[in-house]
Amino acid sequence: MGSFNSLDLLIIMIVATAFFGADGKLTPKHYSKTCPQALSIVEAEVAAAIENETRVGASLLRLHFHDCFVNGCDGSILLDDTANFVGEKTAAPNNNSVRGFEVVDHIKTKLEKACPGVVSCADILAIAARDSVVHLGGRSWKVRLGRRDSTTASRSLANTSIPAPTSNISRLISSFSAQGLSLKNLVALSGSHTIGLARCTSFRARIYNDTNTIDASFARSLQRNCPTSGNDDNLADLDLQTPTHFDNLYFKNLLKKKGLLHSDQALFNGTSVDSLVERYANNNEAFLKAFAKGMIKMGNISPLTGSQGEVRINCRKVN
Ligand code: HEM
Ligand SMILES: *[C@@H]1O[C@H](CO)[C@@H](O)[C@H](O)[C@H]1NC(C)=O
Ligand SMILES: *[C@@H]1O[C@H](CO)[C@@H](O)[C@H](O)[C@H]1NC(C)=O
Ligand SMILES: *[C@@H]1O[C@H](CO)[C@@H](O)[C@H](O)[C@H]1NC(C)=O
Ligand SMILES: *[C@@H]1O[C@H](CO)[C@@H](O)[C@H](O)[C@H]1NC(C)=O
Ligand SMILES: *[C@@H]1O[C@H](CO)[C@@H](O)[C@H](O)[C@H]1NC(C)=O
Ligand SMILES: *[C@@H]1O[C@H](CO)[C@@H](O)[C@H](O)[C@H]1NC(C)=O
Repeated sequence: MGSFNSLDLLIIMIVATAFFGADGKLTPKHYSKTCPQALSIVEAEVAAAIENETRVGASLLRLHFHDCFVNGCDGSILLDDTANFVGEKTAAPNNNSVRGFEVVDHIKTKLEKACPGVVSCADILAIAARDSVVHLGGRSWKVRLGRRDSTTASRSLANTSIPAPTSNISRLISSFSAQGLSLKNLVALSGSHTIGLARCTSFRARIYNDTNTIDASFARSLQRNCPTSGNDDNLADLDLQTPTHFDNLYFKNLLKKKGLLHSDQALFNGTSVDSLVERYANNNEAFLKAFAKGMIKMGNISPLTGSQGEVRINCRKVN
């Protein structure tokens, strides 16, 4: 009966998307029938956790990043080490550094009461990251859902796939590109460092040896609390101006050579990347928009969907 016209094709595509959306692709409505309270439960728990301790919003955002960069966003970072299992929590970029696990446990307990066995730990991380950003003054986005949880983790991939704070610009670009993320994604997502803290051990080499690319008085003030050796866990704000507010001042700091990490300042150091930093420094809306776009893309890294993996009952261990 003749060929399809473009309207037929459009309808077929819409029907197909609605059908396959439940299986194989992430969608914001994934839990709208199976656990309609899911989003409000996570939001309330994240809000309460941040009221109790502001920093944990930053920690939750980072957990999603460190989850997604290691075999995709599959909750693998949440698995505890056991006598016969070595996971990602103790990998070099995570050990004594990632935090927020108790908040994830609280959220999971609430969700298991409301809708047993439905909401994955990987999705909890994606929602909690978004809610943290919004709670601290950032812009919202629709979180795609339907990720399932891994039954494994990889310490060696965690060691190699998560970029180090000593990275140069080419290393940062290749690390993000290996995850399908662009230069624009790299710069916008690095804007996460508008909130949260870093340990002395993460920025020591920068404040003593990056003399050409660090503001001298900024370096001196950091050296007081971060000696050349010892006190590795002493903390400093990643954004010296508004450390608990999600805004573009991180980028303004870079223009003044006041990035805390070497990898932060590498984004504004006389390369073509500088123009992106300038753009976000001059336009908070442009930053927040690019950030939301980057988060959605990062959240799409190799999810387990359909019947792959499982929905963990306890985020710390496989069922
Ligand atoms: C571009 C490469 C990146 C590098 C090299 C990097 C490195 C780091 C380091 C070293 C710390 C401090 C950890 C410590 O000292 O314990 C940190 C903190 C943080 N990072 Fe990144 N990061 C990068 C990108 C990102 C991205 C893409 C996100 C989120 C989407 C993110 C979110 C955070 C947050 C929120 C904190 C503060 C966490 C807290 O206070 O608990 N980072 N990052
Ligand atoms: C509140 O935050 C502190 C860390 O500052 C943490 O030890 C404690 O468990 C948190 N309490 C609740 C109820 O979340
Ligand atoms: C993680 O940190 C703890 C406490 O500092 C340390 O004892 C342990 O050896 C570290 N683990 C790894 C794998 O580096
Ligand atoms: C990962 O890094 C940790 C801490 O530096 C190290 O102890 C461990 O041997 C590394 N593991 C693998 C599998 O690469
Ligand atoms: C950047 O760092 C990588 C490895 O960390 C190194 O191999 C490379 O030579 C460095 N590139 C530049 C331009 O310094
Ligand atoms: C600074 O660089 C020198 C020379 O490479 C090195 O010996 C020293 O350990 C570095 N200092 C820090 C704090 O990384
Ligand atoms: C800035 O660029 C110079 C020259 O390429 C390089 O030596 C230095 O390590 C870079 N600094 C940062 C913070 O990226």
